[in-house]
Amino acid sequence: MKMGFLGRTCLIVLSLLPAVSTQGGWRVVGSDQPVIAEPGDDVILPCHISPRLSAVDMEVRWYRDRFDTPVHLYLNKKDQPRRQDIPYRGRTALSPSALQTGDISLHLRNLQPADWGIYKCYADDGSWNEEGQTEVIVTALGTQPSISMESTQGEQSRLVCRSEGWYPEPEVTWRDRDGNNVTSLSSTTLLSDSQGLLSVSSYIKIKQQSNVFSCLVRSKIPKPDWESKLHISSDFFPGVSGWMVAFFLTLALSIAVIPLLVIQWRRMDAMERKLEPMGK
Ligand SMILES: *[C@@H]1O[C@H](CO)[C@@H](O)[C@H](O)[C@H]1NC(C)=O
Repeated sequence: MKMGFLGRTCLIVLSLLPAVSTQGGWRVVGSDQPVIAEPGDDVILPCHISPRLSAVDMEVRWYRDRFDTPVHLYLNKKDQPRRQDIPYRGRTALSPSALQTGDISLHLRNLQPADWGIYKCYADDGSWNEEGQTEVIVTALGTQPSISMESTQGEQSRLVCRSEGWYPEPEVTWRDRDGNNVTSLSSTTLLSDSQGLLSVSSYIKIKQQSNVFSCLVRSKIPKPDWESKLHISSDFFPGVSGWMVAFFLTLALSIAVIPLLVIQWRRMDAMERKLEPMGK
């Protein structure tokens, strides 16, 4: 009787073992923080197997929307460059030594605006598969904006604020001399260059002699390790018809984090106040 009980216990344990082993016992962990970088950068998309099993004998596949057109494929202990999506050829690598410790992070070279998106890291040991994901954000800070005046005959004069080399589309804010947000009176157009970077031109019609305008072009993407930058340039336009003085303030400001934004706004306000008397 005792043996019978032990036997049954053994049977139950044995029958559970396959269930445990098909569970695989491992997971794939991507990154909950996006990778934020500029075009041209080389980046690493973090992903690992947990617990830290060797992935050398596994299939490791990085893909975006289509599983069958991977960004990178490692199979039968080799990279399979012929099977990877054409835009990624020659730009991706896994680290062979890292694979031994379950690190399946993807090295991606020469980042392009089109690389923006969610990347899945998939691992398959033949009996079990799992995937994780990592997001890539591509962002480029454009040039310092410039303001110029355009007046065509019979039409109202307008100011144009231009800045190049942005990704993604930046936020443009116009303010008048009192600091009022007059962006709703403007219209903004975008042009994409061959590298996928954006040039922004924002137009605002000038009505009366409200002499100060500022144009602020700012990244919408907060980037933790970016320093904030503040550029100021001013132009002086005397004697323009209907204008005693036209004084333009141009600002390009990129923000790192929201609290910095507040500081920068305060600084900008202070500078505007300082600069205003110069235009009088
Ligand atoms: C300025 O106004 C525009 C629309 O009128 C709005 O979209 C934008 O967020 C405002 N900017 C700021 C900094 O308040």
